[in-house]
Amino acid sequence: MIQKPKGTYDVYGKYGKNVKYVERLINALMEKYNYEFTRTPIFESTNLFHRGVGETTDIVSKETYDFIDRGDRPMTLRPEGTAGVVRSYIENKRYGEASVPVKSWYYGPMFRYERPQSGRFREFYQFGVEVFGTNDPLMDAEVISIPVNLYKMLGLKGIKVNINSLGDTETRLNYKEALLSHFKPYIDDLCEDCKSRYEKNPMRILDCKVDHDKDCIKNAPKIIDYLSSDAKEHFIKVQEYLDLMGIEYNINPNIVRGLDYYTNTVFEVEANIKDFGSQNVLCGGGRYNKLVESLDGPETPGVGFALGFERLLSALDAEGIELDNDTLDVYVIPMSENEKKSAFHLCNDLRLNGFSADMDYMNRNIKSNFKQADRLEAKYVIIIGEEELKTNILTIKNNNTKEEYKVDINNIIEFFDGEIDEHWYGTIWWLYISKKL
Ligand code: HAM
Repeated sequence: MIQKPKGTYDVYGKYGKNVKYVERLINALMEKYNYEFTRTPIFESTNLFHRGVGETTDIVSKETYDFIDRGDRPMTLRPEGTAGVVRSYIENKRYGEASVPVKSWYYGPMFRYERPQSGRFREFYQFGVEVFGTNDPLMDAEVISIPVNLYKMLGLKGIKVNINSLGDTETRLNYKEALLSHFKPYIDDLCEDCKSRYEKNPMRILDCKVDHDKDCIKNAPKIIDYLSSDAKEHFIKVQEYLDLMGIEYNINPNIVRGLDYYTNTVFEVEANIKDFGSQNVLCGGGRYNKLVESLDGPETPGVGFALGFERLLSALDAEGIELDNDTLDVYVIPMSENEKKSAFHLCNDLRLNGFSADMDYMNRNIKSNFKQADRLEAKYVIIIGEEELKTNILTIKNNNTKEEYKVDINNIIEFFDGEIDEHWYGTIWWLYISKKL
């Protein structure tokens, strides 16, 4: 039997419903924040990630899915979303648009060849945003507020927001010097990768998965102590704006992030839930004021974040949060072959009028049909038999209260309009019904 590749998973059943619920919430939230949806290819030139994410990061040096396409071009399945969105921003000359900032959001699969374990997959989904064109700390705070508000709306309580600043160019130069002199006496104790990181990019030593417990890493100088006065001021403002929104946070000087493009604010949200497991970083992001330039675009500040979709759903599960998934509005039962056409027609009408409807396709008897209606958690059941076809009066049963109603077939839609008023896609269906779509 062919099995799914290691580190991947299938979505179906209740999990599928929860995925769709959270996706709908994200869609609605991004509308409220006035972000535009962006989609970029799942594979891009390998070079984009080498230059964008950074040659010396674990993601690029060890975890990418690379392949040569049939035209001999080196391609990579995207390990994250930022590099592609930045490429698209530059290639489509979005820096020339009058409306600044450009605020975009995305959602889709990412690929990293990591050792699979709970909360860590080789194909996983990210929801993220990237904002271009402003260095205002207000935007850093807005970006941090997006995942925090999403978690809050879903009812997640155990979250901890950690923030740090990696400063500007001046900060980085001073800090690099400090790191080089700090690690010099310990070079021989470090792993082979870290020895090369020492030469190429000493900050990457700080997030080494092999050496991370060594004292020389724990006692390394912290970048926050080297912030330039501009960087310090920027960071203080971010905190003021977070305070304004009532978002609690910790300043955690150990957050350096595993990607090279960050400047100034960086942040991560951790799940603070008992027994959640070690893959507890629910999301991460920050500012990247040099990335657009480094990918041959004009000097443009940027800030964004991405959250792991699977980890979000696991966190909801760990806190025992049941998502309020909408259930089937109407289940239609034809009593025999003779009423099937009418049942089918009625289902179609109900669906086009904005109600979810399903019917019996299996010629069940009435008892097992009611069982099926219960399995589908149908709110109402309509039975169509010989008598109903003759009189055009249908029997509608409220599947919770067991109350019964006799309704003329021509008034069915009005009846449900009065009974069922909350629909996820209400607006879209209203537009459709009023022929505006
Ligand atoms: P990242 O920290 O590499 O940042 O990933 C963001 C989130 O994706 C993580 O916090 C985690 O929840 C999830 N994640 C990462 N790897 C895996 C995995 N193997 N399995 C399951 N979930 C995973 C970025 O990707 C940046 N592009 C974020 C960003 C956007 N920064 C600025 N803009």
